[in-house]
Amino acid sequence: MGKKKEVDLMLDLELGLDGSWMILRKRTCSSCLKKGSGVSADQKKPRRDRTMGHKEKSKERKEKRLQEISLLRTIPYSDHQRWWSKETIAVVTGGNRGIGFEISRQLADHGVTVIVTSRDASVGVESIKVLQEGGMEHVACHQLDILDSSSINQFSEWLMQNYGGLDILVNNAGVNFNHGSHNSVENARNVIETNYFGTKSMTNAMIPLMKPSSAGGRIVNVSSRLGRLNGKRNRIENEALREQLSDVESLSEELIDEAVSTFLQQVEDGIWESGGWPQTFTDYSVSKLAVNAYTRFMAKKLSERPESEKIYINSYCPGWVKTALTGYAGSVTVEEGADTGVWLALLPDQAITGKFFAERREINF
Ligand SMILES: NC(=O)c1ccc[n+]([C@@H]2O[C@H](COP(=O)([O-])OP(=O)(O)OC[C@H]3O[C@@H](n4cnc5c(N)ncnc54)[C@H](OP(=O)(O)O)[C@@H]3O)[C@@H](O)[C@H]2O)c1
Repeated sequence: MGKKKEVDLMLDLELGLDGSWMILRKRTCSSCLKKGSGVSADQKKPRRDRTMGHKEKSKERKEKRLQEISLLRTIPYSDHQRWWSKETIAVVTGGNRGIGFEISRQLADHGVTVIVTSRDASVGVESIKVLQEGGMEHVACHQLDILDSSSINQFSEWLMQNYGGLDILVNNAGVNFNHGSHNSVENARNVIETNYFGTKSMTNAMIPLMKPSSAGGRIVNVSSRLGRLNGKRNRIENEALREQLSDVESLSEELIDEAVSTFLQQVEDGIWESGGWPQTFTDYSVSKLAVNAYTRFMAKKLSERPESEKIYINSYCPGWVKTALTGYAGSVTVEEGADTGVWLALLPDQAITGKFFAERREINF
């Protein structure tokens, strides 16, 4: 009988777009376990293997949570929880595909009137046709490019004329140009402009159009765990900047703008690698970090509005979702990815603002 070969499993890991680990490749390695090295069996394993226990446990917890949520989604809102009706207007940016389309679908399914916006007007028309064929009557569409101020203005005018304003804004539109271990910052300006400045432009344009209501206006920013300030990995190294961005009392729009401008300047000067920025999906992570900080800043600013004009703003991470943005390589479905955004947009009786969520739970910024 041939001698049994001792093999060990090595896992090649990468960070997913939501900041979770994804397994790229499993490999076997026979040279990993040498005899008599004076170290424990666990220590003999490659470093990546030793940490897998924790990662697998966290993956298990996440899967369990997703199962819980799929059950929660089957529980209908009671009449007294439903603060909305077909008169409630929700605007979704980038609503023509991926998470944005699914958020639109779920909101329409709950009985809200949804305006699906898209860069390409004809794609928007096709998108709402799909929703209408699915039995959703209260849907409309309009062209909207969040990078184009005249497009935002035209949309705002149309919205006021046809709907008299809005109740819910979902800032979903976003871009990413990196996949897997690829970490180019070639498109950094586009990524920061779209994900951060585009989100800001839409928020600023929509706030004056938000209808006063006792339930409060709702803004949901689709963000990412990759933009966490104090995450265990992929965070910015500059401690002073981290502290400044963490402190909501001193947080300002200027500070956030300055941080992203510094990053973009360093990219232009070819020195960003020594700038202490997140090491993976760098430009995307910086853009979402800015969105998260902006969410907290705006929550504080909006809290000063009179009671009848309250607007609540929160951000969430949809998980690593199978969409074009991830090259369809994600681990969760669009239904799961849209869920927390829809749940936040419809939160009954709760003045929750300036928080960051994932899988229907608050997480740290
Ligand atoms: N997928 C994930 O794993 C993941 C994880 C964390 C966060 N997110 C966030 O989730 C959001 C949706 O992403 P997705 O995964 O659904 O991606 P997607 O399928 O690529 O959809 C992105 C949407 O944004 C639109 N968009 C891009 N630039 C725009 C602009 N300038 N103006 C208006 N719309 C614009 C796109 O329009 P076109 O069709 O015209 O290109 C598209 O509708 C993004 O903010 C993303 O950062 C995704």
